[in-house]
Amino acid sequence: MPSTRSIEVLATAADLFHAAAEEFVGLARGAIGAQGRFTVALSGGSTPKALYSLLASNYGDFVWNRVFLFFGDERHVPPTDPDSNYRMVQESLLAKIAIPGENVFRVAAENPDAAAAASDYEGQLRRFFEIESGEFPRFDLILLGMGPDGHTASLFPDSPALDERSRLVVANWVAKFNTHRITFTFPVLNRAAEVMFMVSGGDKADMLHQVLEGKNTPPLPSQRVQPSDGKLLWMLDEAAAAKLTR
Ligand code: 6PG
Repeated sequence: MPSTRSIEVLATAADLFHAAAEEFVGLARGAIGAQGRFTVALSGGSTPKALYSLLASNYGDFVWNRVFLFFGDERHVPPTDPDSNYRMVQESLLAKIAIPGENVFRVAAENPDAAAAASDYEGQLRRFFEIESGEFPRFDLILLGMGPDGHTASLFPDSPALDERSRLVVANWVAKFNTHRITFTFPVLNRAAEVMFMVSGGDKADMLHQVLEGKNTPPLPSQRVQPSDGKLLWMLDEAAAAKLTR
């Protein structure tokens, strides 16, 4: 079980993103004060775009040069593709803040060999965190979303990457999309000092009830995010939390 699990329910999606931005900046200030840097892995999809835009508009003058941004997963497409998580982050955040290019670690998902792209990214992590084989990077914060099927990052139900125990980053075949995704593995997610899920909207309510209050065999991917020595924080809006019983 994680050291601590907390669930915050905000009235609206806008309130959720403001709370998430405060959490992000608060953690960043603490990490920069304590260790001179803040390492964060961003989540993809549509939900976090509003957080990134808010960070760009309300914290444009933040010490972004002490922030180091990674991607918890990436689609197997070039960075110019509309499906690219990097493109979404570039447009909503990176283009609007003064962050040095060398502080942003992009997955080279344009590589037609997804496994090679994953290995390359794993190498970037190992070099940055100065870790050897068998060691895992400890991010100050990992942002995650939850899909309607209970997936998180690109760890989908019944997909091969769920069983990965030693690699940091793998190319995961996602049958339902007939494509590879490049994704962090559970050992990396569960090594984080804090994991913050952001889940918004009534379309996620049923699955969120299953993930937070249900017993599933096997457990759903989002249920398997249990930082061993870190904080697990669920940031929800009321629509997403509508089916929770407590
Ligand atoms: C991705 C994300 C993925 C996402 C969920 C929720 O690359 O799409 O990493 O795990 O967080 O699918 O997506 P939405 O926020 O779009 O609902």
